[in-house]
Amino acid sequence: MRRLFVAGNWKMNTTMASAQALASEVAAEVARSQPNVDVAVCPPFPYLIPVGISLANSPVMLGGQNAHYEKPGAFTGETSLEMLVDVGCRLVVIGHSERRQFFGETDELVNKKIHAAWQRGLDVIFCIGEVLQDREANRTESVLSTQLQGGLAGVEPAQLGKLVIAYEPVWAIGTGLTASPEQAEATHLFVRNWLATRFDRASADAMRIQYGGSVKADNAKELLSQPNVDGALVGGASLKSDQFLGIIRAAAELSAG
Ligand code: 13P
Repeated sequence: MRRLFVAGNWKMNTTMASAQALASEVAAEVARSQPNVDVAVCPPFPYLIPVGISLANSPVMLGGQNAHYEKPGAFTGETSLEMLVDVGCRLVVIGHSERRQFFGETDELVNKKIHAAWQRGLDVIFCIGEVLQDREANRTESVLSTQLQGGLAGVEPAQLGKLVIAYEPVWAIGTGLTASPEQAEATHLFVRNWLATRFDRASADAMRIQYGGSVKADNAKELLSQPNVDGALVGGASLKSDQFLGIIRAAAELSAG
């Protein structure tokens, strides 16, 4: 079984005080319960350092929500991958639908960021997902194929160990609408088979595919129990420690068998 991976994407939320409190609560409970799952939090950039301090010596990983692919230089307002590494990030989220939708990120840009993140030694959570019109028009698979093809251009099988895919149907993000466990499983299976065709079966089978979109403590177990759902990328529910810890607990229970 692939090791489940629960990551919290805090988006543009929290204050410094609430970010530190949330991180401390998550770190304390993970230290106490030692779940057999990977856990990460991705705070807003200004809070990476204080959250990193709150996570000191914790297995909870620190991640960035985005970064520029260029080396440090004259790019006003941007954050480099070097900076994420410098402040203790182990991973970075790339290609989130909100980046694509509100900031014009294309598959080509996403691809550059993925390669650049690996060059700096970061793991990547690469987000893909279809909008509602695509799902209703039966275009989900072709949309995901295009995103995978573009985002993973030039990628070698040996690099896949540093990659996690997050399938986040855009219509399920922040809406309270969740893909049914059957919808999530069918789509994850499609993604895994796509990876097997593009790379190879063993690499595809080893890769983790997270589900994201209105995951909460009370729906986590049925989603995570699907054979091809290997974790969750959690937005809103990752801002409340009881909710986020409930999702981690559900993952830990499934991992315990
Ligand atoms: P919600 O969990 O708030 O739906 O957000 C999902 C998401 O976009 C995580 O990256």
